[in-house]
Order: sequence, then structure tokens, then C-alpha cells
Amino acid sequence: MASISNCTASIIKDAAIALKEGHLVAFPTETVYGLGADATNEKAVARIYEVKGRPTDHPLIVHISSIELLDKWARDIPEYAIKLARAFWPGPMTLILPRTALAKDFVTAGQNNVGIRVPEHTVALELLKEFEAQGGLGVAAPSANRFGKVSPTTSEAVVDELGNYLSPNDQILNGGSSQIGIESTIIDCTKDVPVILRPGYITSEMIENFLFLDLAKFNAVSNNVKSPGLLGAHYSPTAQVILNGVPQPGDGFIALADIPTPSGTVRLASPKNNTEYAHYLYSALRLADRKGIKTVHVIPPVQQGVGVAINNRLIKSAQKKLSDFSNVGENL
Ligand code: TXA
Ligand code: MG
Repeated sequence: MASISNCTASIIKDAAIALKEGHLVAFPTETVYGLGADATNEKAVARIYEVKGRPTDHPLIVHISSIELLDKWARDIPEYAIKLARAFWPGPMTLILPRTALAKDFVTAGQNNVGIRVPEHTVALELLKEFEAQGGLGVAAPSANRFGKVSPTTSEAVVDELGNYLSPNDQILNGGSSQIGIESTIIDCTKDVPVILRPGYITSEMIENFLFLDLAKFNAVSNNVKSPGLLGAHYSPTAQVILNGVPQPGDGFIALADIPTPSGTVRLASPKNNTEYAHYLYSALRLADRKGIKTVHVIPPVQQGVGVAINNRLIKSAQKKLSDFSNVGENL
């Protein structure tokens, strides 16, 4: 089991050394907690897949401390991608770009492009800076959960997910609860126009307003970049998630605060708005499992702003039992 630490400067430095030595470090970001490894170390990256139980054809996002390191990993970067990076980094946005030779197949799952993100969290940024000060170039980090499960937004949730799979030399940094609560917006920047592959806190409206573009005509379906996390069941607690159903007494219930709790159900979250909805969603799903609740009914928010990303996660979360019944592996 890895040690869990609060984040003093010396702890962060030790964690950066651990990364450099090829160990894994789970760290907080503003979206969700990530499970990090030196993105240039094949063995370390292989352990990410082992610990998560993740298929090796799912690429990893490389985290860097600033846009200055972008051209180490990516080439032929379109002008609009530079603009997006300047506007929204550090922040909850991942850019998919053509890779350089530094981004090896073991990080990109053999694709010719690489996902890059500069997170906006003091601990993540300090860790990345310390790592880079020691000669590191980037930290590959997926969400720190077992494959197909709910992303962790606290260090306790990381322990629940991965505690049994990490080694004594691995580390878990405790940086409180992730403010945003859902994973970054992923934008494919390998074409003439940006295409959102995974919605997030940076919304299509924000990108359209910023780039003076109409994104509506481009969508993930028309795009052939492979992003396995886009497909099938994901983000699933043990409980069955049902959207807009009819709850029975004893079921869990998640909805915006102005929607009353159906009688006999267990209210798991009452967010006041969509920002709070994103922040509390994953901890509410985890709470259901901790309470042994078998079925969670959710009233999704309207598909507007960050509501689009919340609906995206909820739909995948609710697909779990479908894939169980059809005997198709999660996320395929
Ligand atoms: O907010 C986040 O993005 C978090 C934090 C830790 O940064 N990370 C995260 O990573 O959510 P992960 O691996 O759980 O989800 C990333 C998704 C996966 O579905 C993966 O297939 C896709 O991004 N992805 C990564 N690199 C890609 C690439 N080069 N091309 C297409 N999709 C990619
Ligand atoms: Mg994930």
C-alpha cells in the first residue's frame, strides 16, 4: 500500500523524486485525481495500466507545467490550438495534437497523436515543476480509478480505488477535494477545426465564443481519432444508475436542489447549480456504494453549459448493467 501525504514542499519534492525513479504518484488536479508516472519511462507507464486494470489500447494524457513544454511533445500545432492553450491553460482542457518522437507508443497507445494538459491545481503544478527541475519532461496520468469506475475526487477515494494495487514506494498526495469534479474537456486539434471528443467544464460555447467558430457541425462521430473513453460504459459505481426513472423507497436520489426528494429515497446530493452538480456528482455516486444502496436514480440537469458534460458522464454511468447483460466488456 502506498503512503498518503499532505502536501508540504518537501513531500511534493519527494513525490517528484519517486516519479523520476519510476514509481507511481497519485495527485490532485482541479478536475479529478490522476495516477501519474514518468511519461518517458515505459516500465512506469506499464504499471499505470496494471494498477488501473486498463486495456493498453487506451492512450494516456501527458501533464506538463506550462505551455513552454508543449513542443517537446507535439508538432504541427495549429494556430487555434495555441490560442486555446493560452486562453484555458492551466485548466481543465486536454488538447490532442500530432506527437513528436518523445511521445512513444506506450503513452499514445500507438496513435500518432498525444493528449496534453496543464492542470490548474497548486499541488499538481508544484509536482510537475519539481519533476521537470529534476529533468522530467511530462507526467502521464489517467484518472486514479480502476478501469470503468468512478473517477476519484479526493485522496480517500483514490485509496478506495487503488489502495490494494499500489506498492509501498508509490505515493498518494492529499490535496483536498477536486474543485471541478469531472474530467477535462478533450479537444482534437489534429484537423482544420477543433472537435470536442469529451465534454467538460470548458464548454463548446466557451470555445466558440473564444475562437469565433461554429462547432455545432463538427462532432465526435465525424471524427476518426480513437478515444476509447468516449465509448460504452464508464464512470460506473457498483450501484445501478437510472436516469429519469421512478424511484422506489430505499433507492438513492440525485437531483438539483429545487427538485424534491421522492418519499423513502436517500438523497445523495442536492447541488444548487450545474457547477455544484459536477463537483458533487462522483462523491454522491461513491456515497451510494458506501451506504450499500443498489439503485441510484438521477435527474440530470439540462444540456447546457457544463450540463452537457454532466449528462455525458451520467449516460455512460447508467450504461453499466447493459454491458453486463450483453456480456460486452466495459468501455468497448
Ligand atoms: O481531467 C482529466 O483529464 C484527468 C486528469 C487526471 O488530468 N485525466 C483523465 O484521464 O481523465 P483518463 O485517461 O482517465 O481519460 C482520458 C481520456 C481517455 O478516454 C483516453 O482514451 C483519451 O482521453 N485520450 C488520451 N490520449 C488520447 C489521444 N492521444 N487521442 C485520443 N484520445 C485520447
Ligand atoms: Mg478516466
